[in-house]
Amino acid sequence: MTTCVASSVDVALLGCGNVGTALARLAAQPSGPHLPVTITSALVRDPSRPRPLSPAARVTADARALFATQPAIVIELLGGTEPARPLLLEALGRRIPVVTANKSLLARHGSELRAAAAASSTPLLYEAAVVAGVPFLGTFARRPQAAAASGLVAIVNGTSNFVLTQAVAGASVTAAVTEAQRLGYAEPDPRNDLAGIDAAEKLAVLIQHFAHRAVHPDAIETRGIEAVSPAQLAHARELGGVIKPVVTADWSEGLTAFAAPAFVPAAHPLARVDGVENAVLLDTRHGRLLFQGPGAGPAVTAATVLDDVREIAAGSVAAGAGGLPAAEAAAPETEWLITIDAPRLPRPVDVADLLAAHGLFTRASSSRRTADGQDCQSFLTWRAIAPRVELALASLRLASGCTTAALRALEVPA
Ligand SMILES: NC(=O)c1ccc[n+]([C@@H]2O[C@H](COP(=O)([O-])OP(=O)(O)OC[C@H]3O[C@@H](n4cnc5c(N)ncnc54)[C@H](OP(=O)(O)O)[C@@H]3O)[C@@H](O)[C@H]2O)c1
Repeated sequence: MTTCVASSVDVALLGCGNVGTALARLAAQPSGPHLPVTITSALVRDPSRPRPLSPAARVTADARALFATQPAIVIELLGGTEPARPLLLEALGRRIPVVTANKSLLARHGSELRAAAAASSTPLLYEAAVVAGVPFLGTFARRPQAAAASGLVAIVNGTSNFVLTQAVAGASVTAAVTEAQRLGYAEPDPRNDLAGIDAAEKLAVLIQHFAHRAVHPDAIETRGIEAVSPAQLAHARELGGVIKPVVTADWSEGLTAFAAPAFVPAAHPLARVDGVENAVLLDTRHGRLLFQGPGAGPAVTAATVLDDVREIAAGSVAAGAGGLPAAEAAAPETEWLITIDAPRLPRPVDVADLLAAHGLFTRASSSRRTADGQDCQSFLTWRAIAPRVELALASLRLASGCTTAALRALEVPA
């Protein structure tokens, strides 16, 4: 454990962009009963740009100069893996505690950082890396009995959730993305969010935290929301649900996971998580726990980072157990929402028969004619593995000349 007995915590800030700037402003406010946090140095690309830092702070593009200020804690808000990874390894090697909000770095190098933290008995906290506005990771890190979980399902990307929520209300995906950018919910380049990459990285961090395994985010089945069609959104409603950007993992036996838009039945707790809200439903030994709230944004992220800093400074954080075993995440067997369209389709009952002949059994269907005069049908199926679905859909395309799309479907928790 690390205990600071000083009257202020001196920190080095790696990155002073959106979150770093919010953090500098927050740290400059009166701290009330809490220990003041003083930013003594900041690493940026362009030191000539004005930053809301005290004139005494050393603002530099030279990473080596940071450690010369002998910070009590290093806060990493650079983003990406380089130069964040070597700098954090160096900090931990020097026994300087680290707070980071960087899910990309943790998702890809979390095991290595954990091993370095354990080797030097130094705290490494990352509450703001996933669902920054809902502090639950730290709570569970200190409560292993309550955190004994076997699976989770979550909405962890506010941009995608906002866009799909707007699309359900009638907006086009393109218009919804523009609106999200106008409101500051989406980055100028939102590709990582819309393609599901951000969600897969956060899922990898959640798997590390709760399942204690290291899964590379690129190895998780990942799909973005760009391909979700207005017809799928309409059929989902008619079939009693909604399409949401979901991540899920189950490690009760082996490990399965995916990050993709999925049909969520209306009775599922995640069906009502709208707009930029995030939520995590954790399957613990003692029951299902739901955490819901704001996912990100500079102000809430900065507040969460500052709480991590003060927790370390108070000496209440133990170093972690070390590196994690590498694991593969298999694609799970799930229910599916199948959508097919063509100028003229066979009767739904004939389509269902053809799918059943390939072992894909339907349990509900919905039909409509699209604006461009196509026949469009959707089917909810019982559980199947992805290769079986692909085979059945290939056969359907061959038989009827239709185009096909498949989304995974969640089940209402028992
Ligand atoms: N934004 C959010 O709401 C949010 C929420 C949760 C987590 N996070 C995470 O927080 C981290 C920071 O996000 P952000 O939105 O604040 O990013 P950002 O606005 O892009 O800021 C990045 C900062 O790092 C500096 N930087 C980047 N590469 C550098 C390099 N090679 N050498 C020196 N300085 C470098 C930049 O310097 P310049 O200023 O000179 O360009 C900038 O100050 C990311 O890991 C992100 O995933 C963000």
